[in-house]
Amino acid sequence: MAIILGIESSCDETSASVCIDGEIKSNIIASQAIHAKYGGVVPELASRAHQQNIIPTVDQAIVQAQITKKDIDAVAFTRGPGLLGSLLVGTSFAKSFALARQIPLIEVNHMQAHILAHFIEDPKPSFPFLCLTVSGGHTQIVLVKDYFEMELIGQTLDDAAGEAFDKTAKILNLPYPGGPLIDKYAQLGDPKAFSLPEPQIPGLNFSFSGLKTAILYLIQGQLKENPAFLEEKRDDVCASVQDRIVSILLNKLKKAAKQTGVKNIAIAGGVSANSGLRTELLAMGERYKWNVFIPKFEYCTDNAAMIAIAGYHKYLNKDFVGQDIAPLARMPI
Ligand code: KG4
Ligand code: ZN
Repeated sequence: MAIILGIESSCDETSASVCIDGEIKSNIIASQAIHAKYGGVVPELASRAHQQNIIPTVDQAIVQAQITKKDIDAVAFTRGPGLLGSLLVGTSFAKSFALARQIPLIEVNHMQAHILAHFIEDPKPSFPFLCLTVSGGHTQIVLVKDYFEMELIGQTLDDAAGEAFDKTAKILNLPYPGGPLIDKYAQLGDPKAFSLPEPQIPGLNFSFSGLKTAILYLIQGQLKENPAFLEEKRDDVCASVQDRIVSILLNKLKKAAKQTGVKNIAIAGGVSANSGLRTELLAMGERYKWNVFIPKFEYCTDNAAMIAIAGYHKYLNKDFVGQDIAPLARMPI
């Protein structure tokens, strides 16, 4: 039997999870509301909140899994990529825990973990599969050949898809993180109300910075004509923006599927919680006869269950690290 404690602290969620023989028994997430009023994550405040939250979060994960600290066989933690101060809290906690209990320490790449969240529950994708990983900091198309054998075949050249959602929300005076709110209002609006450009980027790469500028100009222009534009047309703007972001993402995914011949298609990361993306991907999957894999909502945004499941598969390979390990703000997949 293998009991793994997973720790996630790369951005603004402090999370701990217990995985027993590949089954997630708890997944506690302490979100940091403090960033909402700043319109984005403030790194220093995030580190301080992690420091306050980490012990109670771990304690709760252990209690909910109905085990004790002594039962844990290994501790897995997010080494990167992420905010260094935030990563340091989780890394230092994991190192101390492993040292005190004399158990192995396992490093996990956060972007790999988003993808491996697909191995928490059935149906699990078979290898090889393509994964569109879309979060607040990343937009990637990854060819997944095995649990830890992943090839990055496309990525954003500037902003991430989540940033496009969050920056649009900021322009609309909505609080951070704006993605879930845009999703909510988009469901009430007309996706064809405003036309926004699709960037012409070669290959499988993405760009979202032009879209952000186009949205800003659209809103500034409309406000000149009608000062009540944002109040009256918020839902239509949200629906049009979401529709464009989703079409940019899925057109590249379609291209990647065609280029690689792979028909197992997954999405992961915070933006994979988006209802427009989920619906459109399912429709595209029907059209092109893909096997589509969409994570449960709780495993889309940052969570430690994905770290624990990745840790479990590394544990089976005896892939451990020493106490000299340090977190990495940048960490390739
Ligand atoms: O994976 P994640 O929790 O953290 C990072 O690793 O970045 O992703 C957070 C991102 C934020 O940009 C947030 O606005 C976006 O995911 N997001 C959404 C939705 N839920 C979260 N974007 C669009 N629609 C959603 N429903
Ligand atoms: Zn993430």
